[in-house]
Amino acid sequence: MSALRMRSMLFVPADSERKLAKSLDSPADVLILDLEDAVAQARKPMARSMAAEFVTAQASKLGARIFVRINPLDSGLAMDDLASVVVPGLAGVLQPKTRSAADLIHLGHCLDALEARAGMAAGAVKIVPVATETPQAMLNMQGFAATAVPRLAGVTWGAEDLSAAIGAVSNREEDGSWSPLYTLANSLCLCVAASADVPAIDTLYADFRDVVGLTASCRASRRRGFRGRIAIHPDQVHTINEAYSPSEAELAHARRIVDAFATQPEAGTLSIDGVMVDKPHLTQALRTLELPH
Ligand code: COA
Ligand code: MG
Repeated sequence: MSALRMRSMLFVPADSERKLAKSLDSPADVLILDLEDAVAQARKPMARSMAAEFVTAQASKLGARIFVRINPLDSGLAMDDLASVVVPGLAGVLQPKTRSAADLIHLGHCLDALEARAGMAAGAVKIVPVATETPQAMLNMQGFAATAVPRLAGVTWGAEDLSAAIGAVSNREEDGSWSPLYTLANSLCLCVAASADVPAIDTLYADFRDVVGLTASCRASRRRGFRGRIAIHPDQVHTINEAYSPSEAELAHARRIVDAFATQPEAGTLSIDGVMVDKPHLTQALRTLELPH
């Protein structure tokens, strides 16, 4: 299990002085300073220096919570991004449009050298890939699961870039639900994260004024196994933190399961309130008790 808390990961465009300032007060578990899609091409160099300055100035106050989303490895921009932002205090890199495990390994090697240059501990900078933004990645999922990447701290997914790459008119059905390719991407994200024993982080909820919709969506997402969610607006962070924290009732139930097995260590199956409980329930209960609460 990763030590980083990642219930909420708030995107902050790195070229916005105002949004960077605002993010200082956010209860988001992680801030992701964005150098990619939120920043226009002409502003990338400025955004890189603003991100590096922010990490340098704020990391000691904010703790190991600052990530940067770099540009994709094949964009011609990623090496300049990394050369600017790998400075002491950087906690992680969000890698967009990841195509395969080879991309994760490549990024890891870049970080090896840049950490040494910056005088940082080897492996200090974690990686969270967006594992479903390219059609190649969707076809390479087994490779992600088969490759151990010690820097991996979580896995997230995205539907917008995938549908653009496919040339789809929309990634939604007429009733507003995800089209099959994107429910597959969502499910594969859960499997890749679980096979690496890191948290699966759900994709963004674009309608940032819709608190009721976000709450319902997060609840469903957590039931499916996601441990956290991308936020795009500060107002989403509280809702997300709440939704991905276990309730008192869930914690109490998990404790009952753990206690029941502890008092009957020879039992493989038990009954609690007339319901059968066995090994997978114990595993799930222990996971619930490990969640930040
Ligand atoms: N991080 C930090 N602060 C943010 C923020 C963010 N993601 N989004 C908004 N804010 C700030 C605004 O600057 C504003 O503060 P101010 O009054 O001091 O200027 C306040 O929160 C309220 O913002 P609001 O007016 O409700 O939203 P907006 O219209 O300014 O911005 C978005 C809407 C969608 C453009 C903005 O939320 C945003 O940039 N989100 C992140 C986008 C991104 O990074 N996308 C890439 C990943 S998909
Ligand atoms: Mg994108």
